[in-house]
Amino acid sequence: MNILVTGGAGFIGSHTIVELLKAGHSAVCVDNLSNSSSRALSRVAELTGAEVPFYEADIRDRSALEKIFADHSIDCVIHFAGLKAVGESVVKPWEYYENNVAGTLTLVDVMRRSGCKNIIFSSSATVYGDPAVVPITEDCPRGVCTNPYGKTKSMQEDILSDLCAADKKTGDPRPWNVVLLRYFNPIGAHPSGLIGEDPSGIPNNLMPYITQVAVGKLEKLHVFGDDYDTPDGTGVRDYIHVVDLARGHVKALAAIERGCGVAVYNLGTGKGCSVLELVKAFERVNGIKIPYTIDPRRPGDVAACWSDPGKAERELGWRAELGIEDMCRDSWNWQKNNPNGYRE
Ligand code: NAD
Ligand code: UD1
Repeated sequence: MNILVTGGAGFIGSHTIVELLKAGHSAVCVDNLSNSSSRALSRVAELTGAEVPFYEADIRDRSALEKIFADHSIDCVIHFAGLKAVGESVVKPWEYYENNVAGTLTLVDVMRRSGCKNIIFSSSATVYGDPAVVPITEDCPRGVCTNPYGKTKSMQEDILSDLCAADKKTGDPRPWNVVLLRYFNPIGAHPSGLIGEDPSGIPNNLMPYITQVAVGKLEKLHVFGDDYDTPDGTGVRDYIHVVDLARGHVKALAAIERGCGVAVYNLGTGKGCSVLELVKAFERVNGIKIPYTIDPRRPGDVAACWSDPGKAERELGWRAELGIEDMCRDSWNWQKNNPNGYRE
């Protein structure tokens, strides 16, 4: 298939382009580079030997999108483009709603006018809120999102699901096919060390913080709370290697091809790992000590969140193959080879 990847220069998008090309698909990328660098795409070309057509454009720019659809015959869109920093979304809610929700509305409008009604969307486990039970299945009700970022994910899920529902109701002969992929905690990097996560400023998320401590950019890790109701008191999450996650998107194309309507899948490993377990695994695998202090809980954090990924295995034939040690090794390999990310 020929896939338009929005946000393809970003962390997950760049890894997904690699896996799409490896699986024999072709890709076109659109990204406004607001949180990424075109160097990521040069590295993708180095890795795959293929140059992906790249449009430096904003998905809110209708005419830019129309040009892409005029230039290429697109079978499906994988939609990563969006703002993703939870804390920033609390202080800049308008920017988050406008970029993520209005951007998606423009994208899907151009898609339907161009006759492409297949989309795979980057959702997040954040839509489950504070889960009543773990592991979380796709049937668990979506919870209360306490921040605008999470709310934009729920809204985008609703918009895409409603488009499918309308087509079903009217018996549209060419209905939307929408796959909502709810990611758990993506970390790691391509094993080549050529592409990886490149956060701007001080990282908010755990693994990039750890790697920046390891490389000497940050002094020590602040562990946000050790008094949760978890085995060692620190927060438990379902970390997933970004290469496994990327392969999940390739597998999700099968759901689109069989005309799935709306399909929702968790992409996680199904295994919980605490903050201190991740720190210890990183130290063991890479032979580097990570100094840390125990700090107060971070507002908005939940104690434990991990997936039941069984539906993706049953229906898509996808399961995560890589473990915490691979994630720690590859995150560090990327960071140590690229101490300033894609900046030279
Ligand atoms: P990222 O910031 O690295 O990638 C997003 C890309 O989208 C960036 O390259 C950015 O420049 C681009 N972009 C943003 N707004 C745009 C716009 N209006 N027009 C064109 N391009 C635009 O983030 P990521 O970690 O690769 O995440 C990709 C998607 O997955 C996001 O939608 C994110 O919300 C979602 N997600 C990420 C995580 C995670 O932990 N990384 C977890 C769950 C869901
Ligand atoms: C965060 C987002 C979530 C998003 C997800 C994936 C918040 C509140 N939630 O999830 O919406 O979908 O990223 O990008 O930001 N931790 C520390 N010290 C740190 C950083 C994190 O102890 O410096 C702990 C956290 O308390 C948590 C765990 O590490 O227990 C993972 O945190 P993080 O990587 O930020 O991911 P989430 O909070 O799960």
